Amino acid sequence: MRIGILTGGGDCPGLNAVIRAVVRTANGRYGDSIVGFRDGWRGLLEDRKVQIQNDDRIDRLLTKGGTMLGTARVNPDKLQAGIEQIKQTLDDNGVEVLIPIGGEGTLTAARWLSESGVDVVGVPKTIDNDIDCTDVTFGHDTALTIATDAIDRLHTTAESHQRVMLVEVMGRHAGWIAVNAGLASGAHLTLIPEQPFDVDEVCRLVKRRFQHGDSHFICVVAEGATPKAGSMTLREGGIDEFGHKIFTGVAQQLGDEIQRRIGKEVRTTVLGHVQRGGTPTPYDRILATRFGVQAAEAAHAGKYGVMVALHGTTIDLVPLAEATRQLKTVPTDRYREAAAFFG
Ligand code: F6P
Repeated sequence: MRIGILTGGGDCPGLNAVIRAVVRTANGRYGDSIVGFRDGWRGLLEDRKVQIQNDDRIDRLLTKGGTMLGTARVNPDKLQAGIEQIKQTLDDNGVEVLIPIGGEGTLTAARWLSESGVDVVGVPKTIDNDIDCTDVTFGHDTALTIATDAIDRLHTTAESHQRVMLVEVMGRHAGWIAVNAGLASGAHLTLIPEQPFDVDEVCRLVKRRFQHGDSHFICVVAEGATPKAGSMTLREGGIDEFGHKIFTGVAQQLGDEIQRRIGKEVRTTVLGHVQRGGTPTPYDRILATRFGVQAAEAAHAGKYGVMVALHGTTIDLVPLAEATRQLKTVPTDRYREAAAFFG
């Protein structure tokens, strides 16, 4: 069998571990040949590829962050318009099954391809953990570990200076990194996109904490968090070429507002892409590897139009159509658990 593989969207620790596992399983177990397309869907639109051998270099990929294939974002309209070109490239290269590894955008494109008759097995990735129908995506645990470590460190400096510290973490539509890192690091408040915040309430919690004699306040803010209407206004950043909202720094703007309203000294840290870089945690290495093995097995079992998914401790296959119907956001009851520690 000839299998095509690509990594799309933002990179994520564990992508290389999936590639390694697909190659080891498909080639090592079944003698398949593997072609990797470069820079996500762009490689298929432009027929840029590399033949992947089951060799030492592949074996050493397990611990490496990033992706050996490169990745890119592609505008969804351009992608939809390019489906015939992608099919042509797959035909020209004799690819029988395609394994795209990516987030919502990549998996939606995988669904379109599957609906147009291509045999596809998707693998979900994102540090944001917002893909539906899987308990978790690889990359999230690594981002969470990095964010938790950073917040642990901010506690001690905030305490020494009796400051309010705001930490902005990734999370465009879903606040999983924020809510989990907030719980893990004992933050005093966590703000997420799913629950618009009220600045008056934020200031009340900060003031109350200091009035009780506590010496610092740590607030974790997901980059996609927004204020309630009438609470404060964030600067507009517009939309980028991929249709994504451009963020203007919610933590910094909220920090300025807190300082202005209650006169407390505030410092803001934006963790940014450091959350996506470097070696995956052991949890992510294992999950990514299991996803890769099962994606190769699904290709051999003729199970297409599906995505590998973690349910409890088992890797299952779920229809791409179901997995891409909606994003997995933080449920209100989950946020309420975190809220027990606010203030
Ligand atoms: O992968 C998802 C994500 O990490 C979002 O949380 C973030 O908004 C986005 O990627 C940033 O990606 P980039 O700057 O690479 O386009």
